[in-house]
Amino acid sequence: RLIRFDEELPSSLMTSSAQTGPTQRQVHLNTPFNDQKPGTSGLRKSSKQFEQTNYLESFIEAIFQTLPGVEGGTLILGGDGRYGNHRAIDVILRMGAAHGLSRVITTTNGILSTPAASHLIRANKAIGGIILSASHNQGGPDGDFGVKVNGANGGPAAESLTNAIYACSQALEKYSLVDADVIPLETPGHHAIGGMTVDVIDGVEDYVELMQKLFDFGRIKDLIKTDFPVVFDAMHAVTGPYAKRLLEGLLGAPTGTVRNGVPLEDFGGGHPDPNLTYAAELADLLLNGKAYSFGAACDGDGDRNMILGRGCFVNPSDSLAILAANANVAPAYADGLAGVARSMPTSAAVDVVAKQLNIDCFETPTGWKFFGNLLDAGRITLCGEESFGTGSNHVREKDGLWAVLFWLQILAERRCSVADVMTQHWSRFGRHYYSRHDYEAIASENAHGLYNRLESMLPRLIGQPFAGRQVSQADNFSYSDPVDGSETQSQGLRILLEDGSRVVVRLSGTGTKGATLRVYLECYEPSHGNLNQDPQHALADLINGIDALAEIQKRTGMQRPTVIT
Ligand code: G6P
Ligand code: ZN
Repeated sequence: RLIRFDEELPSSLMTSSAQTGPTQRQVHLNTPFNDQKPGTSGLRKSSKQFEQTNYLESFIEAIFQTLPGVEGGTLILGGDGRYGNHRAIDVILRMGAAHGLSRVITTTNGILSTPAASHLIRANKAIGGIILSASHNQGGPDGDFGVKVNGANGGPAAESLTNAIYACSQALEKYSLVDADVIPLETPGHHAIGGMTVDVIDGVEDYVELMQKLFDFGRIKDLIKTDFPVVFDAMHAVTGPYAKRLLEGLLGAPTGTVRNGVPLEDFGGGHPDPNLTYAAELADLLLNGKAYSFGAACDGDGDRNMILGRGCFVNPSDSLAILAANANVAPAYADGLAGVARSMPTSAAVDVVAKQLNIDCFETPTGWKFFGNLLDAGRITLCGEESFGTGSNHVREKDGLWAVLFWLQILAERRCSVADVMTQHWSRFGRHYYSRHDYEAIASENAHGLYNRLESMLPRLIGQPFAGRQVSQADNFSYSDPVDGSETQSQGLRILLEDGSRVVVRLSGTGTKGATLRVYLECYEPSHGNLNQDPQHALADLINGIDALAEIQKRTGMQRPTVIT
């Protein structure tokens, strides 16, 4: 029988340590680690780095010493199933008991997507969560591992907290843990380590219930029943069990709709990043095949999404704009949107929609944490990023499967193809041609050299010609949070042109090998213009312009980008 976490604990199910009381120990560190600075999304390093003696423990100690409310608090814990997940859960449980947590809620086999974790934090009024994932980076002994910390609102920890964790890790002399038996994660159950309760719950159930509240499953089911075959690629990562329950279970899609649906420690050797390069098999099915009307994929930890239609790729910036323009078809958003937000490098497609809807549109730095205050304050309902992330106020993370369901809801209402949704959107709002060019694994000094040189050139560019237009503004983006007034500087170089086109250059905050240079290109074509160009063609002037100005090919030694989105 499955035991739910809210049931009384039968004493026969208590682990032995609860009766005998676990031994508490302190482990001294010879020297503290000095490289545990969390990036855009938690501490992300190679699995090998995480396997150094005391490395994981040191970072977890820094979290437990810094996160407010640990003593007596509830923590949500789980991960995307990658190599290292089980060991980390065991370590965190034993360290959590030593730090006086009263309860940890973890999940069967430690499988918990990032959005589902966010929901559990909120639903259980937890002090926060620890999510074990390096998101879309490869996994396995030769891949990456990561530890993400979320706060009590369910969102990624604010920079003030991650900075404090980093400072703590640099001064750490020891960490505490208890010796206890490994908690079995195969089935739901109720356990204890000393005075700390450990509830192993089904990590899918609560999330699925939440989705059922947001969307009209009956209508989506009707769509799928008609001639509208869908396919979903879980990339052997965390969303497999969620997607199977949602699509093949509740929505009646045939078995096999969810491909690569079993989470594997190395994601089957793949790179769990849902884009045209790393989800090439799915892209091929939709872009070149005729079998499916709709395709989607999510990343390692389930917060990113890629949406495809037959012969059609939905750019993430357009996806956000389309969700905003059609939000009223979903029961959760039928009453309208409070406002929307996008990250700075995301195209302004959603801005145009917001203007028509007469709602606020905020431009934030890259990173989901910057949406947190706006969501908490009720200033926005939807938000999204060019990096394949979209979400709403239902949790405080971006949410891959939520976006998939939202698209299906729109298609169920509109009863047309994905391509039709796109063209109708553009003919109403105009089209923001958009592309991102990534140059991966560049030698760090080359990348920084290029970036610093370009930054130093920006003041002189204003008023000068660029790509056949005139530069109206050129700066390093900074953000002043409208809710708490906090300032964030140096968030990416922007070259804004008088006709609304722009080029943005950033260095990735999530890579682990060398540096990744991202070039974001955007130009606007009004609704009466030519809406059917290849984006690479429409953006050619900007592509050539930035290469000449920033000497990208010369300084990276690369003829072309590693990934073009
Ligand atoms: C993670 C964050 C996103 C962010 C992205 C940027 O996925 O959750 O909010 O947009 O990283 O990654 P980058 O590699 O461009 O810094
Ligand atoms: Zn992710």
